[in-house]
Amino acid sequence: MTRESWQTRIGFILAAVGSAVGLGNLWRFPWMTSENGGAAFLLVYLGIVLAVGVPGLLAEFVIGRRSRRNPVGALSDLSDSKGWTAFGHVFVVTAVVLLSFYSVVGGWILRYVAASATGAYFADPGAYFAGIDYGIEAVAFHLAFLGATAAIVLRGVRRGIESATKLMMPAILVLLVGLAAWGLSLDGAGAGVDFFLTPDFGYLRANFLDILPAAAGQALFTLSLGAGTMVTYASYLGEDRSLVADGTAIATLNTVVGVLAGVVVFPILFALGAGAGAGGPGALFVSLAGAFAALPYGQVVGVAFFGVVALAALSSSISMLEIPVSFLVDEYGVSRPTATASFVGVFAVTGSVCALYPNVFSFVAGTLVDLLLTGGLVGFLLFAGWVMGRGALDEYRRGAGGLARSLATPWLYAVGVVIPVFLVFTFVSGVAAALGVTVEPLSVLGVTLDQTRVFAVVSVALAVVAFLGLRRPDSVL
Ligand code: PFF
Repeated sequence: MTRESWQTRIGFILAAVGSAVGLGNLWRFPWMTSENGGAAFLLVYLGIVLAVGVPGLLAEFVIGRRSRRNPVGALSDLSDSKGWTAFGHVFVVTAVVLLSFYSVVGGWILRYVAASATGAYFADPGAYFAGIDYGIEAVAFHLAFLGATAAIVLRGVRRGIESATKLMMPAILVLLVGLAAWGLSLDGAGAGVDFFLTPDFGYLRANFLDILPAAAGQALFTLSLGAGTMVTYASYLGEDRSLVADGTAIATLNTVVGVLAGVVVFPILFALGAGAGAGGPGALFVSLAGAFAALPYGQVVGVAFFGVVALAALSSSISMLEIPVSFLVDEYGVSRPTATASFVGVFAVTGSVCALYPNVFSFVAGTLVDLLLTGGLVGFLLFAGWVMGRGALDEYRRGAGGLARSLATPWLYAVGVVIPVFLVFTFVSGVAAALGVTVEPLSVLGVTLDQTRVFAVVSVALAVVAFLGLRRPDSVL
């Protein structure tokens, strides 16, 4: 059986943007921004998207297009190593973990589309959310969302994923722009715009170490990095075109949608006097829903807003399901319908556990996802830099223009050395902060090294060591 491929270039770009644009932009991003100082967070996040996100995306693309296989097959084929093949299986686990909680949130959203139309939450948004978040009804809505996801994946790469995302992405953009215009026209919207777009540098300095891991985690999540989706999607690329151009377009569109989401959410929250609405994953549902209940045309706006979120969530969840489906199809020659049905069975169970037990949900959606995505991306980066080496450079250059070509070698250093070191350190410092571990200021030769500086010095030292390693005699660089 011949392997499927995208029909058009724009089809691939929109499918990848569809994967990237999701709950991460519309729900997690405003939530993270509100908890981490507004525009200060936005600034750090944008820097990480550019410096880590785009090169990381390219590493996944290079692995996918070179191998034309799912993540497990890709690592196995390109390395011929048992260790890498075993590591590849982590991505199947990551997909299960991701879709298990994502589908539960997807279910909440479906419910909010209906509830906005009927005004079900208008009387008491807080009590409404508390009544529907976990339990048997949450299971039912999770299954509905999973069913919609499976219906698309079942139809295959072109007829399913490509045609669905080609319709969904423009719809999302148009609706978001309309919502932003509405939000900005509200009395008091200015304070929301300010919070979101005017950085408080004092806050940034004082909280940099807390903001950094949150921004890095958000950047990976929103660009769908570290799960193998982008490897899988790039594996369906037929012709040679510039991965750099496509990757830049995808990251830019995703960022535009994130920023638009902020421009929708914060003016609405501030106009209502709800403020940034910090305080956990449910806060946005409660405070935003409260805003819709109180504002003019709230019912219509509510349906439009949650409708956008539902479409965005669906265009991402299909990319999560596609990872294990492509794995079964490629590696075991299973038919697409059988592969889809098998994994839907798995997700039905694992997602239901998340929909029934809040503790499991929080652990899965927080720490576990961060760990798997960070670990997964570091794995892909090291693979591209150290295992593929010259092959990665060739693949990167295929179809690339002059500017992109001249960045090929610096890119390989970045993915082989600098970015993995950065990711491991931000992750470790994030865990340390969560556990309340702090490093006492050190005094070295009269210079006081606080936590940020210790962090910077150790990172640079590690990067130098790794750099020297890459220059060993048999290496590419
Ligand atoms: N990028 C998606 C979002 O922002 O909602 C989430 C995601 C999709 C993460 C696919 C990872 C993935 F493989």
